[in-house]
Amino acid sequence: VQVLHVTGARPNFPKAAPVIRALDRRGVEQRLVHTGQHYDERMSDVFFRQLDLPEPDVNLGVGSGSHAVQTAAIMTGLEALMLRERPRLLVVYGDVNSTLAGALVAAKLEIPFAHVEAGLRSFNRAMPEEINRLVTDRLADLLFATSPDAVAHLAAEGVDAGRIHFVGNPMIDTLLANLERLDVAHVRATVRLPERYMVATLHRPANVDDAGDAAELTKAVHAAADQLPIVMPVHPRGRATLAAAGMFDHPQVRVVNPLGYLEFLSLVRGASAVITDSGGVQEETTVLGVPCLTLRPDTERPVTISHGTNRLVGRADLAAEVRVALDSPRPAEPVTPPLWDGRAGGRIADVIIDFL
Ligand code: UD1
Ligand code: UDP
Repeated sequence: VQVLHVTGARPNFPKAAPVIRALDRRGVEQRLVHTGQHYDERMSDVFFRQLDLPEPDVNLGVGSGSHAVQTAAIMTGLEALMLRERPRLLVVYGDVNSTLAGALVAAKLEIPFAHVEAGLRSFNRAMPEEINRLVTDRLADLLFATSPDAVAHLAAEGVDAGRIHFVGNPMIDTLLANLERLDVAHVRATVRLPERYMVATLHRPANVDDAGDAAELTKAVHAAADQLPIVMPVHPRGRATLAAAGMFDHPQVRVVNPLGYLEFLSLVRGASAVITDSGGVQEETTVLGVPCLTLRPDTERPVTISHGTNRLVGRADLAAEVRVALDSPRPAEPVTPPLWDGRAGGRIADVIIDFL
């Protein structure tokens, strides 16, 4: 096989879809591995259906576990698979444990690999994703960057310029390709939301793992919900801790299960503001021109602040920042970061074909 793609967690799927499609159009032989890192219907299958992704050729079925347990299980499964398949190139996406595991296995088998979304840095090593980014980029043969700051980080770390390709953002390819399928009114009616509402999605360990953090977060979100109803699709990671903290007890907080890609982005598109700690959502709100309040001390995606609608906010400041966002007029046209034009998948495919 020429190209083997490794995916496994929710944010991988909208990044891989345009790359797989572009390679398919160019007649490249490819296979898709699902590590099984995410396995709930709503965290995985729904993306394959909605984004028209091919059925994975293999599902390693690793499931949840500590970082070491999960990463090791993915590595064990991938090593056996790659010894059998001997792909010419492995492709990994983003910054999840499935990304890191793919990188380590490929490097040790001396199989070249490409990293899609290389060079992003939060400079916060308390984030597990930052460790995954650093190690993956250190080992990658092809590094596909979504923004100029990412290129600069890689250059500063000594990555050979010939390996770095600034191609734009494949996750935004997926968003732009699906814009016409977003149906705000329909989803709003299904979840019984008024015309004006906000969306919140929170799952970072620093926000939801610890009871004290969850309590502070709950206070902040409730103060925001006093201003406008909030719909909150809850990632399984934080469900129990947030419930124990009373997050779902506010009359204006509407809790729902994780939503499908089209349902979620429909709600985001129609929202007055979004409250999040997600990486991808900072980018999607930027392109949709929806104000985004990111409950984190830092971001690896600074173009969403310099070009987009994103603001980093502390929990104590959330209510005031929501007030400002709700009271400010929207710019007529969102200013999107360079090359977030819907054609990143094609650029990545062209570089891969040159490499093969
Ligand atoms: C992972 C990524 C994170 C990404 C997020 C996207 C790592 C280190 N983290 O975090 O970067 O932002 O995915 O959603 O790779 N669970 C379920 N059902 C599932 C999957 C998970 O119930 O289908 C629960 C399990 O209790 C599990 C917990 O969620 O222990 C965490 O899952 P895990 O994949 O380890 O990390 P995420 O927090 O999802
Ligand atoms: N998303 C979704 N349903 C939800 C929440 C998020 O489809 O209920 C989408 C979101 O639009 C984006 C991706 O999932 O495309 C981001 O994944 P997530 O926030 O889990 O991960 P991160 O980007 O933080 O790594």
